[in-house]
Amino acid sequence: MKTASKCFLLPLFLFTVVSFSSELVLIPENILDVRTGKLIKGSIHIKNDTIVSISNEIKSSSLNIIELNGITLMPGLMDAHVHLIGNNELNGYESISESSEMATLYGVKNAKNTLLAGFTTVRNVGAGNFADVALRDAIKKGVVLGPRMIVSGPTLSISGGHGDNNLLPFDSNINEENHNIVNSPWEARKAVRINRKYGADLIKFTATGGVMSKNTDVNARQFTLEEMTAIVDEAHSHGMKVAAHAHGLKGITTAIKAGVDSVEHASFINEDAIDLAIKKGTFLSMDIYVSDYILGEGAKKGILEESLAKERTVGKLQRKNFMLAHSKGASMVFGTDAGIYDHGDNAKQFKYMVQFGMTPLEAIQASTINTANLFGIEMIGEVKKGFKADIIGVSSNPLKDISILEEIVFVMKNGVIYKDETN
Ligand code: ARG
Repeated sequence: MKTASKCFLLPLFLFTVVSFSSELVLIPENILDVRTGKLIKGSIHIKNDTIVSISNEIKSSSLNIIELNGITLMPGLMDAHVHLIGNNELNGYESISESSEMATLYGVKNAKNTLLAGFTTVRNVGAGNFADVALRDAIKKGVVLGPRMIVSGPTLSISGGHGDNNLLPFDSNINEENHNIVNSPWEARKAVRINRKYGADLIKFTATGGVMSKNTDVNARQFTLEEMTAIVDEAHSHGMKVAAHAHGLKGITTAIKAGVDSVEHASFINEDAIDLAIKKGTFLSMDIYVSDYILGEGAKKGILEESLAKERTVGKLQRKNFMLAHSKGASMVFGTDAGIYDHGDNAKQFKYMVQFGMTPLEAIQASTINTANLFGIEMIGEVKKGFKADIIGVSSNPLKDISILEEIVFVMKNGVIYKDETN
């Protein structure tokens, strides 16, 4: 980086975000237009948190000018499925020893690692005690560093479902009291209302069992159509989106019929369900890297043997069905389930998306344009006039080698530079 002034780097040192009311110009080698895949020449003029123009002239000499020689700039990446709250090294029974306070402190570290890896917006789908709401707000206020967060609060689940805590005995007395464990349409509506009241932006529920939960079946549908419809209707009536965790086909199909905005995992989806998703405009968020981590590291990291056994079938089929969904033209977003593995390693999934059928540009669009659509946030996900100044930099063309996204050298969010390792 060559720069007239380093004032935009200030937050790195102070660990606090100052709101700048100034202007700067970034002059990169080129800019990736993620809509067309074209590399564009030009300098990016940023005022406060917004890109005000991209042009070849620099209007005033009083501006901060940052030359990024050899660097390709592109929009900040987005991940539609993360779990920032908690220490991801704790698995199985060890996980119940973690206090909410400790989980939140780990969240602070995880949020920073995620931002510095180039992810400027993430959707956090499931966190206890609304710790995700607190983290989102602390980031917004500049108390801690992290991506823009869209958060769900506690996941809604049936009793004994994937979103319940199934590790404790009945006489521990805590599980049946939780407001997010619901067993009828009206309980479900109440839980949506409570999540909204305490600050959730969207609703996440579990429509099938899961890999990482004890004593749940990935093929079993959890919640009836009536319950799922109640959740979606209640959430949508408050302008909240709904994400449904679902591996098995019955749960996937029921969730799509109920009108969810995204299906998470979608492992055993088939042609008919893909067609239905396309017809209803449902996004698919398929986390096709995490299986390698679970099967490679899981035993060492204390993941339960029954989870490893489930993963042995889920991972393979999910990748096959990712190819199918992509080839049929489903709307797909980038969602990783980071939190099972280290935060900041999110971009490892890009190569898998390319290996399983996407072009590098499509994989990048899944993490920019498509996520912005799913999140319902306008003016993010592209480096264009009027868009939020969420801009990241890489040292070579990611369309030629997608794995360069694992080595982000420049990160700006809302017009503030958080990382500059260019030289
Ligand atoms: N949170 C998910 C679950 O426990 C993770 C699934 C991971 N496996 C996969 N192949 N995507 O069900």
